[in-house]
Amino acid sequence: MIRRILRYPEPLLKKVATAVPQIDGALVGTIDDMVETMYAAPGVGLAAPQIGLSQRVIVLDVDHENKGTHLLKIVNPVIAEREGEIVWEEGCLSVRDYVAEVTRSARVLVRGYTPDQQEIAIEGTGLLAVALQHEIDHLDGKLFLDRISRLKRDLYRRRLKKMERDGREPPARRESLI
Ligand code: NI
Repeated sequence: MIRRILRYPEPLLKKVATAVPQIDGALVGTIDDMVETMYAAPGVGLAAPQIGLSQRVIVLDVDHENKGTHLLKIVNPVIAEREGEIVWEEGCLSVRDYVAEVTRSARVLVRGYTPDQQEIAIEGTGLLAVALQHEIDHLDGKLFLDRISRLKRDLYRRRLKKMERDGREPPARRESLI
């Protein structure tokens, strides 16, 4: 089932999500919904808080041309190693009509669990490294807007308010959103 994606400035997006104590059937179903919602958006990644569930779960697929072959579903992901620096132009399914360059680690090693309770370790560089860090940020109540300058953030806030005042919904964009 495709879920509604919460959008900035929805308060739940600022909340630190809790660790999953046990993976049950309901959660597995929710994770499948997250995958469906991510592909439908379309987006490269989605974190559970974005669909209103404040738990530490993320899904990612950086290769939509071969949908599913690189699909990742990670429960309780933790960044175990990070290295280097990369600047990437990021957007977010929860942030309308805005992209900005963000500096992140160039390589990360993320540990966590699959929905069938296997331990996994995912190493990512490039877009995968960026997307892993972006999604884990969502679990910590952070958006990429929190990683840009205050000036840029305030400009965006003003633009968003004006957009809402005008009752104007921006057209869907084509670039990959995380
Ligand atoms: Ni996002």
